[in-house]
Parts: sequence; C-alpha cells; structure tokens
Amino acid sequence: MAFPVHRPRRLRRTPALRRLAAETRLSPDAFVLPLFVVEAEDVREPIASLPGHFRYSPDRVVEAAREAAALGLPAVLLFGVPARKDAAGSGAYAEDGVVQQAVRRLKDALPDLVVITDVCLCEYTDHGHCGLLAERRGRLTVDNDPTLELLARTAVSHARAGADIVAPSDMMDGRVGAIRRALDAEGFTDVAILSYAAKYASAFYGPFREAAESAPAFGDRRGYQMDPANAREALREMRLDLEEGADMLMVKPAGPYLDVLRAAREAFDVPLAAYQVSGEYAMIHAAAERGWLDREAAMWESLTGIARAGADILITYFALEAARRLQSGGRGPAGAGAPGARAAAPGVSPAGGAEGERDAP
Ligand code: PBG
Repeated sequence: MAFPVHRPRRLRRTPALRRLAAETRLSPDAFVLPLFVVEAEDVREPIASLPGHFRYSPDRVVEAAREAAALGLPAVLLFGVPARKDAAGSGAYAEDGVVQQAVRRLKDALPDLVVITDVCLCEYTDHGHCGLLAERRGRLTVDNDPTLELLARTAVSHARAGADIVAPSDMMDGRVGAIRRALDAEGFTDVAILSYAAKYASAFYGPFREAAESAPAFGDRRGYQMDPANAREALREMRLDLEEGADMLMVKPAGPYLDVLRAAREAFDVPLAAYQVSGEYAMIHAAAERGWLDREAAMWESLTGIARAGADILITYFALEAARRLQSGGRGPAGAGAPGARAAAPGVSPAGGAEGERDAP
C-alpha cells in the first residue's frame, strides 16, 4: 500500500518532528579538535589556509584545549611544527620535542582531556616525506623497515610525555605492530593506538601542509599512501592494522570516502574515526566567503553525512564551532537551512532557516 496512505512528508513537517525522526545525531562527544603546536614561546598565530585556526606554542596550546574541554569535546589531536628539520626527522622523537612539551602541559592543566598525538615524520624531515629516504632500484623511496623504529620511538616519547592515544599517520607497513611492541616493552600497555589505517594520497591535505609546513620537497606520497581508486584495499589495510594491535581505525579524508567508512563500519567492531581534512574544511569556507553556500548548513550536512556513513568519531576543524552551536541550542543540524535554501524563490521561506522553529513550506 502506497500513497495516499504513506506520506513520508508527515515526519518532516516541523523542526521538532524532524529532530525526533533523525537517524543520525551529532554530539560534542564525537568531536576531536586538531591542534598545531609550533616550537616557540607565547605564540598564537593564525593559519591563513585554515580560517579560525592557529598555531600555538606549547605554553599557549592549553588555552585552545581548555575551550575544547569546556565545550564538551573528549579529545584533541596534536600536530607538531618543529623549529629545525633534518633527514631523519629527529624532532619527532626528541624527548623535549614540541609535541612532547605540549602533551606535558596539556596533561598537567587538563588531566581528563584525552590527548591524541599524530605519529609521523613528515613535519620533522627536511625532505617532507613520512619516513627515511633510501635509493632502491635507482629511485629514491621512503624506506619502510628502518622507518618503523623511528615511528616506534616517536610513539614511546609521546606516551612518556603522557599521551593517551597515539595515531600513526605515516602509512608504513607494519608500523602499528612496531609501535604496539615498543609501547608494551616500555610499560605503556594502556596507551591506545588509533591507526590512520585507510589514509589516501589526497589533494585535500593542501591547507594542512601549509599549516604544518610538511609538503614533500619532491615527488608525492603515492608510494605509501593509498590510491583513491581502492576500497577493498582499505579493508585489507584495516584488517592488518587490527591484527597488529590497533584499538581504533580511521578513514581519511572523510567526505570523498564515505563508501569506505560504511564498509569499515560493517566489517569491524572497533571505534571508527573519520578525519574531515583541511581541504574539506577550506572548501566550505572558501565557497561560503564567495556567498556560494551557507557555511553553517554545509558544516552540519558534511558532518552528518560522515556520521551517517558510520563514523563514531569525527576529527574536524569544525569541532569547536559545531560543539558551541550544539551547546547553545542554536539551529543545529535539524534546523539548518537546506542546500540552496538561500536561493529559494522570493517569498518562499527556507526550510528550517535561522528562526529554527518555523514550519517548513
Ligand atoms: C601527515 C598528516 C597529514 C595530515 C594529517 N597527518 C598530511 C599528509 O599526509 O600529507 C592531513 C590532515 C589534514 O589535511 O587536515 N602526518
């Protein structure tokens, strides 16, 4: 029996009905805020390619983390921008490295906030690649196995500083196992691993590389990050990381890989994170600046899509803004204008709209 008995529009009539019927709900509990820490003192400098975001020195990163905690975020994710870089990325595993300093400050000031650290060498190497370079078959390549030890050392130094979760993003084979063994050998059996298991060689990392000064000096990352064409391979990467001891898995970027998120959700039962990366954020900002879309509505729709696809954890540069708006009871995902709402014909009120509780047409 179909129409006229069945009328799906009944449950879309008012904002409250739509909220009640929503299958996906966003909460600050799911958000993780990425933070950039620069080796300096008393610095909070804006990042041009990531509007609303800053590079903080270790002594000031607490300010941002405090705001995140006050808005109900359970965790932050730290990236380091060291003062000096070298071929072996030694700043990544220096006991007094920039991330290690920041972790100590954060755990001191906000012991209950979960601190996740990005484990990779690309921000610390002078060539900008995620591991050691070596010549193989007459070509320069990122040398997998010797890199593992450095990644493991990095993870252990983060754990020693107090990190709760380490998140390897380098895409070397075997790094989760190497990190797990090293953590356990040093007594950090309770430090968890969030693996960037399905990390694609993506054009959407552009603004991040400016923020972290981590663009490769030559070549690209296709020899170690995943090919955007592959989804079955992503499941294989995730399976391998689970076997090696990953506690949580990540898909990155998020928006262009929702099918991978959905498949991962169905295949695995560990917490699944999605990283809405810098380019996904920057695109929405840039288009909104031109008046081409409604920034807040696009934020909610992009985050809802990622959650609907199966992500439990949303790592996003919108984390503070979204949490702030959810906390202040603003229009929220259910009340946000539909795409194109602004372009509605004259005299037609947009669905939802800034007034929130007004009925939809
Ligand atoms: C590398 C790393 C990158 C991002 C997170 N970790 C960049 C890269 O692989 O080139 C990208 C995050 C973003 O774009 O927001 N350690």
